[in-house]
Amino acid sequence: MRSLKKVMALGLASTMVLSLAACGGGSTETTAAATTAAAETTAAAEETKAEAEATDAAEETAAEVAEATGDFDASNVKVGISIYKFDDNFMTLYRTELERYLTEDLGFKAENITIQDGKGDQAEQSNQIDNFITAGVDVLILNLVQASSAPQVTDKCKEAGIPVVYINREPDAEEEERWASEGIQATYVGCDARQSGTFQGEEILETSNGGDINGDGKVSYIMIQGDPENVDAQYRTEFSVKALTDAGVEVEELFIQRGDWDQAKGQQLTQDALTQFGDEIEVVFCNNDAMALGALQAIEAAGRKVNEDIYLVGVDALTECVQNVLDGKMTGTVFNDHIAQAKSAADTAVKYLKGESVDPVNMVDYVKVTTENAQDVLDALK
Ligand code: GAL
Repeated sequence: MRSLKKVMALGLASTMVLSLAACGGGSTETTAAATTAAAETTAAAEETKAEAEATDAAEETAAEVAEATGDFDASNVKVGISIYKFDDNFMTLYRTELERYLTEDLGFKAENITIQDGKGDQAEQSNQIDNFITAGVDVLILNLVQASSAPQVTDKCKEAGIPVVYINREPDAEEEERWASEGIQATYVGCDARQSGTFQGEEILETSNGGDINGDGKVSYIMIQGDPENVDAQYRTEFSVKALTDAGVEVEELFIQRGDWDQAKGQQLTQDALTQFGDEIEVVFCNNDAMALGALQAIEAAGRKVNEDIYLVGVDALTECVQNVLDGKMTGTVFNDHIAQAKSAADTAVKYLKGESVDPVNMVDYVKVTTENAQDVLDALK
């Protein structure tokens, strides 16, 4: 709609310029005068065109913002955001989309949005939150370093009368229930990590031999975990394997280590496991794609071939990994929809600001990514 309007506005303006310039007479003088006149007309027309485009764009933005926020005026609202650490592939995509959506689609001013790097340090992040409170932000969007610090953080925000939207690292159920029972303005926006684990397990079940490459009647796997304090790591670990056992498949866990969502650690751990267990390893489960990228490096360095003598699955659908799925270098991944999560987090913040009621937990679906839909997912991500 937006681009169509713009194309139409442009087309109209250039038609105008062309027909005006074509009005020149016969003599040189007339031609020169006509040229000057035409040049002036062209300049004027271009100015009009630029103005028309600016008005058009402003009207569109205003219309889009109004559609997304109703009567709510975001222009003076201050938002404090803290991300558990900037140096995380997935959270970087999420953070970029969150900032884009707040400013471009909801009309928040960039200078009113402060995004801090928690640097993987809860003490540092708690200081940032204290500073946000002192600065009087209107709403907080927090990706906690340690989800277990949610009760203390929530109480501080409650005391200051600042609503808080937790993202990505889910506080425990007891804490979420407390928000509802005590009427606290706190909520969680994320995905149910059990679903992503189940999808990973299904991707292995859907291979030609169901993950049992050597035909010994069991699936022997290694598990490269994220930060185990994080429920995403716990659930993905549990439910990926549960999908196999629920299907009646016998499993053998050869190795399980924490790689903290990090590519270099994923590479090192997979290399260690390959050295220790070699061909016994049939499946490499990685709790996220960054670690799967590392695992792939180790797998290739060991001369193994994904989808031939070993399977590899991750979560997040980083574009590099979706491409790997297409190229047969990863068996599958799972789209951790940062676009929908960023939108939901920002929309939820707006609900608080408008005084509307908010559910304590807001979940977005994961999407299984295999060779069948990888191209579509890649196109959608670009
Ligand atoms: C997960 C994601 C990981 C990492 C983690 C941080 O949902 O899959 O890649 O970003 O969140 O908490």
